[in-house]
Amino acid sequence: MEYWDDDAHLVLFAVRPASQRQGVGSSILAWLEACAVVAGSKRVRVEARLDSVAARSFYNQHGYHEICLKRRMYSGAADGVNLEKWLRIPNDA
Ligand SMILES: CC(C)(COP(=O)(O)OP(=O)(O)OC[C@H]1O[C@@H](n2cnc3c(N)ncnc32)[C@H](O)[C@@H]1OP(=O)(O)O)[C@@H](O)C(=O)NCCC(=O)NCCS
Repeated sequence: MEYWDDDAHLVLFAVRPASQRQGVGSSILAWLEACAVVAGSKRVRVEARLDSVAARSFYNQHGYHEICLKRRMYSGAADGVNLEKWLRIPNDA
């Protein structure tokens, strides 16, 4: 995770294949989001490959919205999608 003024940017995130679909990613993502709130972030941004059903479903499941498609985002070849999630700050109105 990278931290900017109001944003946190999830740069690299993966779960070992043998451990996928067991809630590991969800637990780590929740912990990273809690850290981002403590760091003062209001939003988490992340990118995923357009053809990655696992990543897009995972982030959608956790309240991330798909903002825009980016052609040739990965190495100038694979298309990607930008996602974001607005964090709930404790005591925020
Ligand atoms: C995306 C990724 C991190 C998810 O990690 P995970 O530990 O398997 O995720 P969880 O077990 O917490 O899954 C939570 C929910 O996400 C969704 N999901 C996760 N993997 C999915 C898949 N392969 N297909 C469809 N939905 C999926 C499901 O809704 C799942 O809930 P369920 O298992 O009750 O149906 C993992 O698949 C991964 O490392 N993929 C390769 C790298 C990658 O794409 N990283 C993200 C881009 S930065």
